[in-house]
Amino acid sequence: MKCTDDFRLKFGHHELVPIVIGGMGVDISTAELALEAARLGGVGHISDALIHDVADRRFDTAFIKGKTRFYKHNVDNSDKSIIQFDLGHLAEATQLHVGKTMEAKRGSGMVFVNIMEKLTMNAARDTLKVRLNAALDAGIDGITLSAGLHLGSFALMAENPRFRDAKLGIIVSSVRALQLFLRKTARLERLPDFVVIEGPLAGGHLGFGLDWAQYDLATIVAEVAQFLKTEQLDIPLIAAGGIFTGSDAVAFCKTVRRPCRWPPALPWPRSAGYRRK
Ligand SMILES: Cc1cc2nc3c(=O)[nH]c(=O)nc-3n(C[C@H](O)[C@H](O)[C@H](O)COP(=O)(O)O)c2cc1C
Repeated sequence: MKCTDDFRLKFGHHELVPIVIGGMGVDISTAELALEAARLGGVGHISDALIHDVADRRFDTAFIKGKTRFYKHNVDNSDKSIIQFDLGHLAEATQLHVGKTMEAKRGSGMVFVNIMEKLTMNAARDTLKVRLNAALDAGIDGITLSAGLHLGSFALMAENPRFRDAKLGIIVSSVRALQLFLRKTARLERLPDFVVIEGPLAGGHLGFGLDWAQYDLATIVAEVAQFLKTEQLDIPLIAAGGIFTGSDAVAFCKTVRRPCRWPPALPWPRSAGYRRK
């Protein structure tokens, strides 16, 4: 009988234990938790949600105190729309949290950061650009794009020297969301290095409505795997949400095993939908 350890998550020649601890915001995904996953040969996530607060607690900085002082005049105003995050401070806090975590990394695994698009911070595009690039600059092994469609996120990193070497992936809950993402990013000639498929039993910010019970992870994973096979795209799939036992994990490892050739026999992108203009 197979066990989870019989499988490997592969990024090129880099082989990992097929366990990924997902990013859980508000510092549930602590650096310690992510580092332990990496030490054991898997992938651990930190999160950049509440990054200023996390940096203050970890490194004795005063980002929150400074911002509170700066906007003191607005404390009693229920309209908080004038409040902006200082982009320099955002980059500094990210550099600290990510940089110090990466310095402490041991073992053959990887540490990724979970970056949610929906964390708008009153200036969605500008803050997202700083968050993504500061994480790359600080040496993160990879970024998981979550909570949103992220149609512009690859473009926000395209000028970064690490854009093609860091492991960049996205969380989707349907084939359609993945197709949209690939279509939108095709002109950058950069595929995601991994795709996380979250079913309705995952925690966090899911792409399901009140009809969530009509969906199940196994079906979505099979659909996405079939789509990638048809397109001859060799991208590791990571199933998430409702995998409770080793047997569950083995079943998913078998589904997501990649039968495709790499490099693909035909030049990518193959289908008209992803062809470069
Ligand atoms: C308590 C909790 C908090 C989470 N917070 C976030 C979050 O802030 N952002 C996010 O993208 N996903 C979040 N998630 C989703 C996880 O990263 C993960 O993808 C999901 O739980 C599926 O993995 P599982 O099979 O381990 O449940 C959270 C999950 C849990 C259980």
